[in-house]
Amino acid sequence: SFVMTETLTINIQRSATSRLGELDPANIEFGKLFSDHLFVVDYINGEWQEPQILPYGEMAVSPANSALHYGQAIFEGMKAYRTAQGGVSLFRPLDNLQRLNASAERMCMPTLPEELFMQGLTQLIRLDSGWVPKAADTALYIRPFMFATDGFLGVRPSESYRFMIITCPVGAFYNKPLRVRFEEKYVRSAEGGAGYAKNAGNYGAAMYPTKLAQQQGYNQLIWTDASEHRYVEESGTMNAIFVINDRVITPALSTSILDGITRRSVLQLARDWDMPVEERKVSVHEIVEALEAGTLREAFGVGTAATIAPIAVIGFEGHDYELPMTSANSFSRRASTALAAIRSGQAPDAHGWMTA
Ligand code: COI
Repeated sequence: SFVMTETLTINIQRSATSRLGELDPANIEFGKLFSDHLFVVDYINGEWQEPQILPYGEMAVSPANSALHYGQAIFEGMKAYRTAQGGVSLFRPLDNLQRLNASAERMCMPTLPEELFMQGLTQLIRLDSGWVPKAADTALYIRPFMFATDGFLGVRPSESYRFMIITCPVGAFYNKPLRVRFEEKYVRSAEGGAGYAKNAGNYGAAMYPTKLAQQQGYNQLIWTDASEHRYVEESGTMNAIFVINDRVITPALSTSILDGITRRSVLQLARDWDMPVEERKVSVHEIVEALEAGTLREAFGVGTAATIAPIAVIGFEGHDYELPMTSANSFSRRASTALAAIRSGQAPDAHGWMTA
């Protein structure tokens, strides 16, 4: 079984051929083409087993796999960036580990030791570093995930699990400013639910209400609270941030809101720039009022995949409110530029976010 050591040995089985030639760097579709290798480690009898790096490929699971039946499945999203110096660096990887472990606890799954996660991650990225794209706004998206592997239909936490990391090159996630509307019927998560955890079911359950909104011409929803639909929760799969006059306003974290790492980073930049930052309940009424008064300067989603996704239209009770166009001076644009500069090593990493 796996024993924690200073330098973790990972059994590496290299792929005989590379699929990198299939990648068109000018036309990258998110989540479609995966890098040559994956990281995998199983949890059996209360212990993490020997970690492995293997050629990317399909795997067998029991038809009674309890993740498929009862949803014990969690994931993370993170990115590796190409630096101006030609190297590769990771953005806040330990924050992702911490959140993965918070999700694991919520879903009765084992937590992952830091060394196992970091060694698996860095050795995998090193091996597939050729897959980290070079153009602006591109990155290697990293998807760590864990799922139950018991072949057992009894409803109880699985006894065995698999943790894996797969990666794929990505370009800009959303390319057009978003049309969103407040959701007033369905909910993403309720207080006391698992909304703060990155568990698979949160995303599956969001698809139907999102599809309904898309049939009405919106790209995404702005989720509201489960009890009254009065307060903003998240925007699509991202945290939501608003700029009213010069104040940066975002819903405070709760058990129903994901503790986004891009959210945290963007709020830190606002504080660095001496902008007032308010993490509190944000009511739908307040946003609609600011839209009507013309004081809502910006609204945008923040997440790992898209980084910052500006919102152009917010629908409420059948009316579509248009937001002003962003300019180079907009907070979202400045934050996005600043993050890109830190990630590429072209600006000082004042908060120690990057790991080589
Ligand atoms: C995000 O990074 O915004 C996410 O939530 C990941 C998404 C692809 C599910």
